[in-house]
Amino acid sequence: MKKKPRIGFIIGKDGEDLIKNSKDFPEIPHYFNDSSNYQLRWGTHNKIDVDVAIPYWIKKHYDVEIDIIEPSQINSERLRKNDLNFCIGFDVITGKWLKWQYPTLEAHVRTIFKKSKVNHIYPSWKLQNFVYRKGPYLKKFQKAGIPIAPTFLLRSTGTFNLARARRILAKIKKYGWEKFVIKPELGAGSFGFEMMITANTTDKKLLKYLNKYRKEFPGFMVQQAMQGFYKFWELRLWWYNGKFAYAIANKAKVVTGTKEKIARTPPKDIVEQCKKIGKKIFPLLPKIKYNGKNYPPVMIRTDFGCCQGNTLDKNKYFLNEFELQAANYFTRHTNFPVVIEGSKAFIKTFQQVTNKKLCKK
Ligand SMILES: Nc1ncnc2c1ncn2[C@@H]1O[C@H](COP(=O)(O)OP(=O)(O)O)[C@@H](O)[C@H]1O
Ligand SMILES: [Mg+2]
Repeated sequence: MKKKPRIGFIIGKDGEDLIKNSKDFPEIPHYFNDSSNYQLRWGTHNKIDVDVAIPYWIKKHYDVEIDIIEPSQINSERLRKNDLNFCIGFDVITGKWLKWQYPTLEAHVRTIFKKSKVNHIYPSWKLQNFVYRKGPYLKKFQKAGIPIAPTFLLRSTGTFNLARARRILAKIKKYGWEKFVIKPELGAGSFGFEMMITANTTDKKLLKYLNKYRKEFPGFMVQQAMQGFYKFWELRLWWYNGKFAYAIANKAKVVTGTKEKIARTPPKDIVEQCKKIGKKIFPLLPKIKYNGKNYPPVMIRTDFGCCQGNTLDKNKYFLNEFELQAANYFTRHTNFPVVIEGSKAFIKTFQQVTNKKLCKK
């Protein structure tokens, strides 16, 4: 008998993408929505995350084996048994987050992910490593004419002392930024995000901040604080196989001061505006060839803020960052059928990359 194609899914979401009605997914073993299984699904109760809903949707509709891999189960042997493994709820940044549980996980998965071809991992390390280094990619995008917030980068290497902090502050003053934000590279979920008023920030305060994070993070991004973030929606746009899929609007916790605010249907004109910008990043991503062809990533999320030039001009959104398929899908905040369309996007990429056709049941 011919061997069934095997798709691995590396999971690890922590309850941000709950699909409310888990009754729609009786095929999913209770193990994956059992709140007492806190090692895997802390905070969730009888609800299902998108990183298991997608694999089980695929299994339900296609003649395929799926292999759900938990963060602690990542090893080359297991991965190589599958034709292709998708990072869906897990990436190196998740590995960093899980440090409290698995202190060596980040280093371990880096070693494995770096050999993405032999370990059958998608996306390739080249693309993963590109997205993990937010400062450099923003600079690359900027050079190509994509609007971003005024930014400069700091590396966590070298000496950190008051003189260095003073030089950084002098640079901020030279740029004329009244307020600035600083965030660690490889951070996520606004971790380490701080906004400082330039005139009130002493060398000592800045140095204290840098010393707090520099051992854990490879660098920092310093940006002009953009007032539009406080006034207007941020936009998030999802692209499946390189095509626009859906969008939501949000106001981050660091902005509202309480909890994240989300709008299911963002203003159309702003979506259109951001689509035009988001489209431009695709040719700038590292090219990843499989079977002699270059394919777009399964999923990309582009995030936007307002407004270019630190004005309050709603027609001037800029790109804040982008994420790959392990990012949040905001499944319960959109009417877009994320599980069905997301599954199809993974299937399409699987077939292209492995040259194996999946048969419908
Ligand atoms: N330059 C900026 N000025 C003002 N607010 C910002 C700026 N950059 C980010 N923010 C706010 O901080 C939040 C988190 O920053 P972001 O760049 O998205 O980092 P991450 O999501 O990787 O933690 C954003 O969603 C936005 O609300
Ligand atoms: Mg963000």
